[in-house]
Amino acid sequence: MLRRTVLAGLTTGLAAGRASAQAYPSKPISIVVPFAAGGPTDLMARIVGERMAKELGQQFIIDNTTGAAGTIAVGKAARAAPDGYTVSIGHVGTHAANGTIYKNLNYNLLTDLEPIVRLPQNPLLVVSSEQVPAKTLKELVDHLKANGDKVPGGTAGLGSASHLGALAFFGATGTKFQLVPYRGTGPAMQDLVANQIQVMIDQSANSLPQVRAGKIKAFAVTSKARNAAAPEIPTAAEAGYPMDVSIWHGLWAPKGTPPEIIARLNAAAIATLQDPDIRRRMEDLGQDLPTAAEMAPAAFAAFHKQEYARWEKILVAANVKVE
Ligand code: MLT
Repeated sequence: MLRRTVLAGLTTGLAAGRASAQAYPSKPISIVVPFAAGGPTDLMARIVGERMAKELGQQFIIDNTTGAAGTIAVGKAARAAPDGYTVSIGHVGTHAANGTIYKNLNYNLLTDLEPIVRLPQNPLLVVSSEQVPAKTLKELVDHLKANGDKVPGGTAGLGSASHLGALAFFGATGTKFQLVPYRGTGPAMQDLVANQIQVMIDQSANSLPQVRAGKIKAFAVTSKARNAAAPEIPTAAEAGYPMDVSIWHGLWAPKGTPPEIIARLNAAAIATLQDPDIRRRMEDLGQDLPTAAEMAPAAFAAFHKQEYARWEKILVAANVKVE
């Protein structure tokens, strides 16, 4: 008798779960964005969220939860109900490097979040305010060699993309600049345009529009090849400082989110990145789009794990950590 009741309860629970997955989504979905509005991750969330809403028939609400290079936002998303109504957006910094840099995270980036989909990746640009006395990367490096510790540079915190970019830049050029932390490179860009800070190694999606508007200077791109959206900007390697850093983004859900819901979100994201208007917008910002195969949840999970291990090696060797 007891056994029959338990089984009945289980079947009802499973049926309810299956029913809610079939009815998903029945209300707006929140995207927890780990950086300030106006920056590249926020822009990615808005472009993708707006178009996925058309696929799923429910709005995506942008929840900018900033601070500590995204670790607060990711923790919030990891602890959310696994019902498909909270997703976490982030990148190589927030969802890989931070697992090595921050020793006391109260979540595990590889096991407490379900990979939904890999999103586009963009290179970083070496940029400065108009006032910096340099026209080439070599001149900028010489300027930093002479004045580095006095030159304020913007980042979005230890472990952010702009910080990982700065680390790679320091390694490739043998220079340094001050690391001034912001809640995102959106607000940092305002200060760069105003010459409150003077350099930044920032995602092309955030810097290119300002470069095109003539408000800041670009010296190099950190990818191996020039970027199709800005073929006039040389690679750092062309100037004698080989670098190969690109910033990939992704979407995750709290652990335990039903696979049917992950599949719905994944399909909506793939349709989004197959939309010609979205592709044009992303490519215009210097973004490289993943293939549909690379966007499959299992392929993204494998890529995420591999990137986690790759950055762990780099950061442990560089002894970059926050106790
Ligand atoms: C942002 O959206 O502000 C960036 O992704 C921050 C960063 O990681 O540099």
